[in-house]
Amino acid sequence: MSARRYRLWQLGMVSIVSGCVSLPHPTNADAERARSLWPSASVASLESGRTAYAARCASCHALYPPQRHTPQEWRKALTEMAERAHLTSAEREAIEEFLVTMSVP
Ligand code: HEC
Repeated sequence: MSARRYRLWQLGMVSIVSGCVSLPHPTNADAERARSLWPSASVASLESGRTAYAARCASCHALYPPQRHTPQEWRKALTEMAERAHLTSAEREAIEEFLVTMSVP
């Protein structure tokens, strides 16, 4: 594997170890905020987005903290990454709901 690939792999390994700890869990306040965009959002639906994000997005690189990108940046990244990660539309929607909601400090 190339040096760049190895570096990405290394970053991914570090993030799998630390990512589980740092990835925030959604609260009632987060669910309330989410409902302005996703009327049926709940703590449970955000939690399933969190699980899908951790499961589907950590194989190639670090799990970026939600606050690292703006909602607009997440949408743009997801358009590309949904293809790379072979997401179903339901997975994509759940991950987008989680990341966009949790990107707000
Ligand atoms: C098949 C490998 C692969 C998977 C799976 C994958 N990514 Fe990526 N991702 C990459 C690569 C490679 C880059 C960096 C280089 C690039 O932009 O082409 C990247 C870059 C990114 C970036 C930009 C990083 C930055 O801040 O500079 C974001 C955000 C991102 N990915 C999010 C995701 C999300 C969300 C998922 C899950 C839906 C995901 N990725 C799944 C390969 C992947």
